[in-house]
Amino acid sequence: MTGLSTNLIHADDSKSRVPDVVTPINVSTTFKYDEDPANLDAVADLPDGYKEDQFIYSRLQHPNQVKLEAVFDEILGGYTVVYSSGLGAFYGLITHFNPKQVAVGPFYHGVKRILDIHERNFGLKQLSYSEEDLEKLQPGDLIHIETPVNPQGTSKSIKYFADKAHAKGALLSVDSTFAPVPLQDPFKFGADIVLHSATKYFGGHSDLLAGVLVVKTPEIRKQLADDRTYLGTNIANLESYLLLRSLRSYELRIRKQSDNVEKVVKFLAENKDKFKTLRTITHSSLQTESFVKEQLPNGYGPVFSISVDSKETAKLLPSRLKYFHHATSLGGVESLIEWRAITDPYVEQTLLRISIGVEDPNDLIKDLDQALSSFN
Ligand SMILES: Cc1ncc(COP(=O)(O)O)c(C=O)c1O
Repeated sequence: MTGLSTNLIHADDSKSRVPDVVTPINVSTTFKYDEDPANLDAVADLPDGYKEDQFIYSRLQHPNQVKLEAVFDEILGGYTVVYSSGLGAFYGLITHFNPKQVAVGPFYHGVKRILDIHERNFGLKQLSYSEEDLEKLQPGDLIHIETPVNPQGTSKSIKYFADKAHAKGALLSVDSTFAPVPLQDPFKFGADIVLHSATKYFGGHSDLLAGVLVVKTPEIRKQLADDRTYLGTNIANLESYLLLRSLRSYELRIRKQSDNVEKVVKFLAENKDKFKTLRTITHSSLQTESFVKEQLPNGYGPVFSISVDSKETAKLLPSRLKYFHHATSLGGVESLIEWRAITDPYVEQTLLRISIGVEDPNDLIKDLDQALSSFN
């Protein structure tokens, strides 16, 4: 088996159409048909609608999206479908699997909004993770978990939820955005579908939106890709070029970010009492349950959260930091901090979410030290 970094650079080699080492940006939305009339077929005469390797119109498929899926298939251990955003991927998931009930907990608020739309339009029922609610699941229903969870950065046991789902004939989908490969492989613990906002670590430079679904069979992949064509949620041409470029260096970034976060969280946890306004620090590295280390054998996700004594401190803290931009999102090479209440209506207003980048960890630690100390 080839290693992750080799796959990131070479898994799409066979899909190259030109000798260029750097994949060209393809902006064409439409592609010329075969010049030989003998090779033309009516779509109604083709069993699968269109030929797999044919480029017709970029909403169906286009060269760099196909290359992306070749890389993702190899590194994510399943059959992948790329989307225009992480939410586009979740929308594809809910549309295709069409559960009557979905069990969800606190998680990224945008995903919740999609479930709210389905509840409004189609009567989808949202259940909690309580034992009582999980008992109500029926075949075809879905449990959706995010692990590590946004914004706290703490882990849930994938195996626990997989067992609960499968006992009822339901499916488990896992949003693994906060701990992508090689940190976590949700399929190992029983997930049926894996989702990533590729906007985050796979993109890594805060300059593109993309999403990925990973499923276990080529048949489901094909159905999701067909739905994507008519939902209009395929990744855009320019974005697919940028994402492919980003994947080449992905492993270097995620390993460095994961190393960095462990050092930063350790510093804060060991020095918590030194900072008068610091109340809590949440991160998988601080959890003691044994499943956490099993799920994250190669390092922790680079996002964690802190809570401080008041809403006022939470609003002020970002302005006292030098190396953390005050902005939403995560996964980029630059560290970010966000007073999360600006975008998330469901969190405590004293919470700050921190996304660790690839800077020198000592500089990040010194910066947090001086900013938190300034409130003492
Ligand atoms: C855990 C998680 N899942 C999904 C999404 C949605 O991804 P996107 O912004 O690419 O639509 C986000 C966005 O922040 C997220 O944090």
